[in-house]
Amino acid sequence: MIDHFLIGCCYYPEHWDENSLTSDLDRIKSLGFNTVRMGEFSWSMYESEEGRYDFSLLERAVEYAGKLGIDVILGTPTAAPPKWLTDKYPEVLCVDANGNTMQHGSRQHNNYTSKIYLKYCAAITEAMAKCFCKYNNVIGWQIDNELNCHRSESYAKTDDEAFREWLEKKYKTIENLNECMGLRFWSMEYNSFSQISCPRPTPAYRNPSFMTDYYLFLSDSAVRYASVQAKILKKYMPDAFVTHNGYFENLDYKKLTDECLDILAFDSYPSFSEQNGKGRSVEAGYRLALTHGCCEKFLVLEQQAGPGGQNSYLVPTPLPGQIRLWTYQSIAHGAVSMLYFRYRTALFGAEQLWYGIYDHDLEENYRSREIRQISEELSRVGDLFIANRQHNDVAFYYDYHNICANKTESFAPDDMWYIHTGLNDLNIHADFIYSYEDMKKYKVVILSHIAIADETLAEKVREFADNGGIVIISSRSGTKDIYDRYYPQKAPGVFSEAAGCSALWFTSLPASEEQNVLYGGKTYSVKEYCEVMQPSAGTVVGTYTDGFCRGKPAIVKNGNIYYIGFYVDSGELYRDIIANHIDVPELPGSNTEEYVLGDYKMYLNYGEAPVDFECFDLLTEKNITQIPPFGVVMLKKD
Ligand code: GAL
Repeated sequence: MIDHFLIGCCYYPEHWDENSLTSDLDRIKSLGFNTVRMGEFSWSMYESEEGRYDFSLLERAVEYAGKLGIDVILGTPTAAPPKWLTDKYPEVLCVDANGNTMQHGSRQHNNYTSKIYLKYCAAITEAMAKCFCKYNNVIGWQIDNELNCHRSESYAKTDDEAFREWLEKKYKTIENLNECMGLRFWSMEYNSFSQISCPRPTPAYRNPSFMTDYYLFLSDSAVRYASVQAKILKKYMPDAFVTHNGYFENLDYKKLTDECLDILAFDSYPSFSEQNGKGRSVEAGYRLALTHGCCEKFLVLEQQAGPGGQNSYLVPTPLPGQIRLWTYQSIAHGAVSMLYFRYRTALFGAEQLWYGIYDHDLEENYRSREIRQISEELSRVGDLFIANRQHNDVAFYYDYHNICANKTESFAPDDMWYIHTGLNDLNIHADFIYSYEDMKKYKVVILSHIAIADETLAEKVREFADNGGIVIISSRSGTKDIYDRYYPQKAPGVFSEAAGCSALWFTSLPASEEQNVLYGGKTYSVKEYCEVMQPSAGTVVGTYTDGFCRGKPAIVKNGNIYYIGFYVDSGELYRDIIANHIDVPELPGSNTEEYVLGDYKMYLNYGEAPVDFECFDLLTEKNITQIPPFGVVMLKKD
């Protein structure tokens, strides 16, 4: 569907004097861009009164972009309902857990479940699609904008109704719901579905099964909301791709992609996330891998191109080199587009301080010059990335149901994050693989805290290991059924037989208590939680070194299956286990990454110091002896 690399920016013609439309697009063209994204958020301009549509400004922009050979991705404006609509139908507004109804004056104040809102979304989407289907340069549509970005829960009356319907569809009878959720506990049983509402504040802890369902419901509501628009867009423009930009809470992006999208998109704002060394956004890397897990090739529809903030925060400016570094980081994970946010910094509005490629004054600056360099490079090599993406040997088993269930657990739900990002630091890039996907294309599969599991998964894991795959299972996996209830057996429940062991007992570890494990002659630290294992068919390969657990089994190996009876806060142990089974090449320096993309290799230096490295660099077309600070080089393999 996308046969060339898309490079461009987000452009908002409605924020500027109409007379600057052509000069803006000329300048966008001069940046070497072939794509702009426009249109999301401007509902009050497109439909200032109910049913009176006016897309003329957007049409002029699309038309002129077409003349310049620039393609357009249009956004539907449904993340910002106009005042006339919310006044006429207050039920479309979202409500927080304390009952406060969100009001007009910002964005994302709609809910996803109001049938009236869905009707109006369908109408504006259809009006736009009808208007723009005649423009050949409209190549794609973005549904709404960043679902769940500012809030991912809603407690409106329509949400209660939709939640009840969702539960009734799932459980059929109220008796079954009471039974499956274990609502006898603390007298929570219901007599009918009509008594149920979304989980508003309570003095003590909620029922975990109920909460897991609520989180699943939130995601399904967002997917259903998006599907209404997707169907209309596909009807009018079957050849244009439909996309949506993530990655936020309470949304199963795999399901969204499978049910509504041709291609998923990621919005990359590395300065928001935790930094590991100044140039590296660990979190962005993790989210890029998650995005790839949902959609092999994906779009980046927004990448931070300046410092920025809204009223209450201000993130730092990308240092020279970082915009380029982040661009190639996304590409290495599978991005086939790079649109910078935004063309020029707005003079007004809530994002006056979100700096784009250009500042308020529209002068060239170090960021615009860096982006010109990137465009030039990508005009030569960009299309290579359409076909090539790194093949990873390692995958994490990923299951959205477990993600939801983990939200109500206080025990180390971040284990997967620590392991994945830790492995990444040590040059093991790992994919995320979903329950219904084939494990066979990987050499190693990690099940990190997959509490909800059944015999079918246990069998799949066993078969994978029997055929030579390496499996690493971490604590408390396999212990719960689909309704988030414990199985009446020891951890790792359904995996006990395959793992050849079970947990005799466990303890949580207060921060003050140190615990370590000795494995292969090295010690590794334990985080928060540990289980004392009892092998059955398996062999003990790691033991605890401290306190009451000292000398007791911590890691058991049964054939190709390792069971790790504790949580970690680094990827070191997993790396050392994996390195026993696959080759892990050395990196040219600390804080660097290597990617193999078909016949090419790419090296990224996240550090502020240069790294010695000799090659002919295809990006700059020069022989180099060092990768500069925040630098990227690309070379032909061998
Ligand atoms: C994104 C959003 C944009 C803009 C940008 C900068 O999350 O999609 O509309 O708000 O952040 O804050």
